[in-house]
Amino acid sequence: MAAVEAGWRVIGVDNSDERVVSLNRGASHIEDVSGHQIKNALAAGLYTATNVFSDIASADVVAICVPTPLDLDRKPDLQPLLAAVRSIEPNVKKGAVVVSESTSYPGTLRNVIIPIFEEGLGLINRKVFFAAAPERVNPGDQVWNQKNTPRLVGGLDPESQEKALDFYNSICDSVISVSSPEIAEAGKLLENTFRLVNIALIHEFTQLCDSQDIDVNQVIDAASTKPYGFMPFRPGVGIGGHCIPVDPLYLTWWANQNGQSAGLVQLADEISNAMPTYVAKRVMKLAPEHKNKVNVMLLGVAYKAGVSDVRETPARALRQQLLNQGCVVEWHDPLVEKWEESNPVDISWNCDVAVIVTNQPGIDVNYLSNKGVPILDCTNSYSGLSGVTLI
Ligand SMILES: NC(=O)c1ccc[n+]([C@@H]2O[C@H](COP(=O)([O-])OP(=O)(O)OC[C@H]3O[C@@H](n4cnc5c(N)ncnc54)[C@H](O)[C@@H]3O)[C@@H](O)[C@H]2O)c1
Repeated sequence: MAAVEAGWRVIGVDNSDERVVSLNRGASHIEDVSGHQIKNALAAGLYTATNVFSDIASADVVAICVPTPLDLDRKPDLQPLLAAVRSIEPNVKKGAVVVSESTSYPGTLRNVIIPIFEEGLGLINRKVFFAAAPERVNPGDQVWNQKNTPRLVGGLDPESQEKALDFYNSICDSVISVSSPEIAEAGKLLENTFRLVNIALIHEFTQLCDSQDIDVNQVIDAASTKPYGFMPFRPGVGIGGHCIPVDPLYLTWWANQNGQSAGLVQLADEISNAMPTYVAKRVMKLAPEHKNKVNVMLLGVAYKAGVSDVRETPARALRQQLLNQGCVVEWHDPLVEKWEESNPVDISWNCDVAVIVTNQPGIDVNYLSNKGVPILDCTNSYSGLSGVTLI
């Protein structure tokens, strides 16, 4: 949509027929893009969705933004990326620039994507340009968006760089030209690994403070008064979403491939994965002692506030822990219709403890507080409200 707004004619190619149909009807599956925006773009003839890869034959710019998840062994799963590149390769016209926006380890453009073009029709008679410009989107963020978030661009060669910069300068307020695709790719991994490591530190710190009855949120507030050299991160149920829990494992995998190890990152991953177990223990401390089966209501199960996305939500591990401990677990989230093959309950559900996992807009926490329900707030949002204990 950012490209449409900049005056480009955009073709969205997707292998999900369902998604293509709904986009061509003007329905948006992303909170930050309105259906109205898509309908306007469709009506103006500036946007169309398709599942036919040959439709990109006229494109000057081909931006790859397919998922880069982990496989069952928690290693990089490049299958969607490889599939997309194999489908794109025969259709890209001479002179086009192919940009990888998907998050991956350094060298993905040079060593994974480009060889597919070299094996295919060949690059000798068909000059194609290449760059990496990792997507930097923060879903639900009211301030930072596609346009005003500076964009890293690393081209394979000077001509590639020029073409990629032309495109991103037309859709972003600020574009940072870096000296290689690997700098852009590694930069993206560093950004997200930085968050993982810092959040893991706070998760560890939370448990240390709790053991001595020290309120970790007050400690973070206190440390935050230092005007330099400190940045506050808050504890939560764990790490969620398809970026922060995933991307650092691309880094550890890449390190291992090169005979190195990224021990700090590995430990941060372990600490954060263990956090739901600790949170479950805190929940049980708030439960009535005499009850056999404790009713627990999870409030907000999306991985972050303001979105309906439940991918990699730490609520899942917390739910499992509580079930293992014999609790009856239900959930309530105004933005999520279905989760873990179950439906949400109303806020009035008869729970013994409520846990704010994600501070989703529209949750009536005051109702529970007035009812006298003990509430474990893992989001530091309701400090001082009657019945609320902060994690
Ligand atoms: N969504 C974010 O907030 C965000 C932020 C920063 C970076 N990223 C990165 O951007 C990339 C995309 O993430 P996303 O959340 O948009 O992914 P997503 O899971 O929403 O998938 C995007 C689309 O790709 C389609 N797709 C999958 N395989 C395909 C194929 N072979 N050919 C054509 N289409 C295919 C899917 O159907 C889907 O519509 C990832 O590398 C992610 O790490 C995402």
